[in-house]
Amino acid sequence: MTSLLKVEGLHKHFPIRRGVLRRQVGEIRAVDGVDLELETGETLSLVGESGCGKSTTGRLLVRLLEPTAGKILFEGADLATLSQRELRAKRQAIQIMFQDPYASLSPRMTVQEIVAEPLRVQGRYADDGGADRVRELLELVGLRPEHSRRYAHEFSGGQRQRIGLARALALNPRLLVLDEPVSALDVSVQAQVINQLRGLQDRLGLAYVFISHNLSVVRHISHRVAVMYLGSIVEVGTRADIFTAPTHPYTQALLSAIPVPDPVGRAERDRITLAGDVPSPSNPPTGCRFRTRCWKAQDVCAQEAPPLIDRIGVGHPSACHFPEVPATVGGA
Ligand SMILES: Nc1ncnc2c1ncn2[C@@H]1O[C@H](COP(=O)(O)OP(=O)(O)OP(=O)(O)O)[C@@H](O)[C@H]1O
Ligand code: SF4
Ligand SMILES: [Mg+2]
Repeated sequence: MTSLLKVEGLHKHFPIRRGVLRRQVGEIRAVDGVDLELETGETLSLVGESGCGKSTTGRLLVRLLEPTAGKILFEGADLATLSQRELRAKRQAIQIMFQDPYASLSPRMTVQEIVAEPLRVQGRYADDGGADRVRELLELVGLRPEHSRRYAHEFSGGQRQRIGLARALALNPRLLVLDEPVSALDVSVQAQVINQLRGLQDRLGLAYVFISHNLSVVRHISHRVAVMYLGSIVEVGTRADIFTAPTHPYTQALLSAIPVPDPVGRAERDRITLAGDVPSPSNPPTGCRFRTRCWKAQDVCAQEAPPLIDRIGVGHPSACHFPEVPATVGGA
């Protein structure tokens, strides 16, 4: 079976330029060799600390950025080799939604205009049912159609996120990239939007690439999880793999930082505090990129980059020379 999305060897390097001649003096390796696969109707989360390349990966997937190297296959077709017309059709099938709905929604447009815009841009507004289609989209995301004449600023954060969602759904995408879609919302509203996203996935067979640094939310919504560090994936597996049997020290550190509601549980658990900041992606460490912060690092870690493989037979891969399943971490 062909995957909905297959990403191979994806790289995005941003040039660093200096001086009046804007000479290139280096590069930021924001995404540095990412492989991903996603099936129809599946949610794959991308997690990791700030600056590890999650948003850049998301923008590459929707072609807001051109990759430096690597392939993006959508429904078996390489986006880079398609004709303009084919590419336009495929691009409509992949949409992105950002964290801050307010910034991405024009304050001078009504809800009706905002949601209709993608249809108009594609010349599909009349063919797709015009105002009826907009009404249907608003109902789909749980907004009252009679609100369509209001402006985005008249709505709460959660409602604005729903307007953004209705707009992202206008062209019937099969894949939605959600970049921190609930991070700007109150916790109670977060849960509503997440449940909405799950319901829509079931009804419409949508696949999500869900970008987040909030592992509690990720645990709730994901089928699979990919953990990123400094531009590459260090561990990937099902939700249960990652939350109950993480083998990479970085994944273990991220999980140990999730707040536990039960104070007894917290006391019983080893909490790992990560030392230092993420190194600069313009000058990543040799060998294993995590070694400058890893409490298990050995000489080999500085010399050889560990491949992303299932070295100890736990059923999912991890990019570490010394992977092990800890006695107690997380809990799915
Ligand atoms: N247009 C750009 N030009 C130069 N550098 C960039 C650009 N976009 C991103 N970067 C750099 O690439 C790296 C990865 O950034 P990215 O936004 O993908 O990280 P992220 O994982 O989404 O982080 P966050 O959790 O803070 O959103 C960072 O070092 C960032 O500064
Ligand atoms: S390869 Fe070495 S430095 Fe990297 S995560 Fe594993 S033990 Fe730590
Ligand atoms: Mg980001």
